[in-house]
Amino acid sequence: MPMTSGEIRKKFLEFFKARGHAVVVSSSLIPDDPSVLLTTAGMQQFKPYYSNPSAADADFGSRNTASAQKCFRTSDIDEVGDESHLTFFEMLGNFSFGGYFKKEAIRYAHEFLTKEMGIKISYVTIFEGKESIGVPKDEESRSIWQSLGVVDIREESMDDVFWGPTGLGGPCGPTTEIYCKNAAGQDIEVWNLVFNEFFFPGPRDDLLRGNAKLAELSQKGIDTGMGLERLAMISQNKKNIFETDLFAPLIQTIVIPRADKNTERAKRIIADHIRASAFLISDGVRPSNKGVGYILRRLMRRVLVYGAGDTSLLHRIGEQYGDFYPELRNNKENITNVAVEEYTKFSRAMKRGLDELEKSDRIDAKKAFQLYESYGLPYEVIKDFRQSIDVTREQFDKEFIKHQEISRAGAEKKFGGHGLILDTGELKAGTEEEVKIVTRLHTATHLLQAALRKVLGEEVHQMGSDITSERTRFDFSFPRKVTPAELKEVEGIVNDVLKKDYTVDRQVMSYEEAAKLGALHFFKEKYPKEVSVYTVRNKATGEVFSRELCGGPHVTHTDEIGEFKILKEESSSAGVRRIRATVG
Ligand code: ALA
Repeated sequence: MPMTSGEIRKKFLEFFKARGHAVVVSSSLIPDDPSVLLTTAGMQQFKPYYSNPSAADADFGSRNTASAQKCFRTSDIDEVGDESHLTFFEMLGNFSFGGYFKKEAIRYAHEFLTKEMGIKISYVTIFEGKESIGVPKDEESRSIWQSLGVVDIREESMDDVFWGPTGLGGPCGPTTEIYCKNAAGQDIEVWNLVFNEFFFPGPRDDLLRGNAKLAELSQKGIDTGMGLERLAMISQNKKNIFETDLFAPLIQTIVIPRADKNTERAKRIIADHIRASAFLISDGVRPSNKGVGYILRRLMRRVLVYGAGDTSLLHRIGEQYGDFYPELRNNKENITNVAVEEYTKFSRAMKRGLDELEKSDRIDAKKAFQLYESYGLPYEVIKDFRQSIDVTREQFDKEFIKHQEISRAGAEKKFGGHGLILDTGELKAGTEEEVKIVTRLHTATHLLQAALRKVLGEEVHQMGSDITSERTRFDFSFPRKVTPAELKEVEGIVNDVLKKDYTVDRQVMSYEEAAKLGALHFFKEKYPKEVSVYTVRNKATGEVFSRELCGGPHVTHTDEIGEFKILKEESSSAGVRRIRATVG
């Protein structure tokens, strides 16, 4: 009898517990780190410990941990339906913050797969090395694998076997991946072992462009991730993840009245999307037109378009996962209510939208967006129901962003005097008077970040910001409390700029140009080709004081701002500080 996925999950955690690891529960799909939208890997909740291992002793009683983590990868949405891709999945992982390194990590993985699970390793990969970032070929991993009798060892590049950093910066390093064969004889990547030797103080794109240097972590760390669904596929000897016990019973109950073609693929998509929706809702996400809410909305609408908007499927997910993830059982009602509401809202428009889709001869970016705007049909739905369309996801997203900018400008005029007249997500104002105040606070926030970086160093990066007419609230990465003397210095630098009346100007340029100029940016999944950059400059000397990618609005001269005052500095979450400040 093959092991069930529940038994596999348990076996994994017990294996590492028996080897001195603290088992830690999954964190939410919505991460603490505001620079990333969703939790995409088990290491995310442990990010701060790589730079601060002693905190792990205090928090877990060990420098080694293991978990089964809820993960979500939007980047894989177009692949869902094939043999091995999902949006939501469970990642099994073991982690070490200075406790052990390559030899132990590779040996544990080898022992777990071959001895505990009785699985044969097909081949492994190692990092081929990259001179420009100063990281050599990973010969050490090669010899460890060889000592364990693994002979097929393949070298791969940065794209495949160098992890991180995630978000705005963090631990990173070369990896070694383990491939095993499924029942169809395909080699599937099952487990990724990351050797976090370095810290990079910026997003991965900057690292790839060679924009800054890698720093060595004082204590090397381990971060591994293995997809439970893929492991179950191999262990249960199946051809794809949907034949495992995680999906097969669910798929059997799915009936798709609308899918005349490619029914198997459609069933897989529904199974994935239903499961992902249940987990997102139980972590507090609600369908909307922005951010994570928009991701959930798309999943739910796609399910409904296929005619599978039957809440009994959601119930089954609650039953299946409730023991290990109690939040699913506890939120059963919520999950159903949210689904019923979204389905009801969408179903009439959807019928008309599908008719319209059928009638249209040519679907280009404008038409696709119109189908979304008028009837709520997401891009992937349009693609599912039309063999050929003249629009890529990038073109559709561009149209979407353009529209959001127009509607934001419209909303500002329309609601004059009632409710919020300005809401950029970061800035909120209810009256014209408040718009003026938050605009001044916004420019002051840019100055604050620049001054913090001058006083505390370049490791300071924006992690979040919220501005109302009362104050600005700015979150940034920094490992310790900022001292009163440092705060005074920061305040002094900002006030000096305010007195000297620097200029603030906006330029539109390509993302690459902005990056070259060193413009700071708050992480977003994807930037449009053209971005706007605000620069604060000393008029007299031409010196640039601050430069950031930003949607505005800002004042044009810093002397419009008034006096800057820091009210409070405190911890926001692990490795993140929060400052509140006012102007006037
Ligand atoms: N963090 C690594 C990954 O997700 C293990 O692949």
